[in-house]
Amino acid sequence: MIPRLRLALQKKGRLAQDSISLLERCGLQFYVKGNALLTHVQNFPIDLLFVRDDDIPTLVFDGLCDGGIIGSNVLLEAELEAALRFPQKKYQSILPLDNCHCRLMIAVPEGMSYAGPASLEGKRIATSYPLLLADYLTKQHVSAQTLFLHGSVEVAPRMGMADAICDLVSSGQTLEENKLVAVETILESQAILIRGVHSISEQQQELLDMLARRIQAVQHALKRKYIAFHAPKNALESICQELPGVESPTILPLPGDPDKVVVHVVSAEGVFWNTLETIQSLGASSILILPIEKILE
Ligand code: PRP
Ligand code: ZN
Repeated sequence: MIPRLRLALQKKGRLAQDSISLLERCGLQFYVKGNALLTHVQNFPIDLLFVRDDDIPTLVFDGLCDGGIIGSNVLLEAELEAALRFPQKKYQSILPLDNCHCRLMIAVPEGMSYAGPASLEGKRIATSYPLLLADYLTKQHVSAQTLFLHGSVEVAPRMGMADAICDLVSSGQTLEENKLVAVETILESQAILIRGVHSISEQQQELLDMLARRIQAVQHALKRKYIAFHAPKNALESICQELPGVESPTILPLPGDPDKVVVHVVSAEGVFWNTLETIQSLGASSILILPIEKILE
């Protein structure tokens, strides 16, 4: 029997949903039952292990899972922690996934005077990322106390437990609700596909390579859009100049209108409203924007 490739994924939270939909887009068929820890992929010898995000690095570093999807914030904190005990690196990055972007930031209460990292000297900072914070403070030659909390870090200043926090910021809503202002960025984080450094079978390696290739194809497709529109022949050049990253458009005659053509293009970047409004003002009409599911080149 071929040993199954075991991947660790986050059970709850934003990354959980994104990881599941990414793997589904890659053609993996599976059904996640309620709170099940383990899910068999039906069409590949892959098992998905749904766990707490903090557990993913350990499972991969210790070789209990062959790979996983994890936010680089959790990964790098765990890496610093592991480095205290083991000199050698315990994982390899395969691919950044370009989702779940957020920042690990230091924030201070509104009204606190802040004039750069030196203002944090002697202060107490609440965080779930004590090692990333310590690393940052050392580099800034600042000495501060750390209050380690697993969650609800943003409440600590209001409760008089800390002077500042170091936490993830995505939309900024949590900071705003707690009357905190972000002052420093410690890390730009996103989801990442990693593997352990233990050896795996040739078949498992092939599966991992296939997955990485498919993820890249999906990422590539997600950024691009298929655009179709009608354009006056005399405005065609100026319209095409407005479209981001378009190589060679397909131009077809528009039956019944000799002055117009039908244009089909694949844009290399996201297409934004203002681009569409611009090409419309240049004479494009019947503009269709279609998502692209996969691009294999
Ligand atoms: C993170 C972070 C903040 C919030 C920031 O928590 O710790 O609380 O998201 O997001 P925002 O800027 O969009 O408001 P998460 O929701 O991951 O839960 P946790 O704190 O329980 O881990
Ligand atoms: Zn939080």
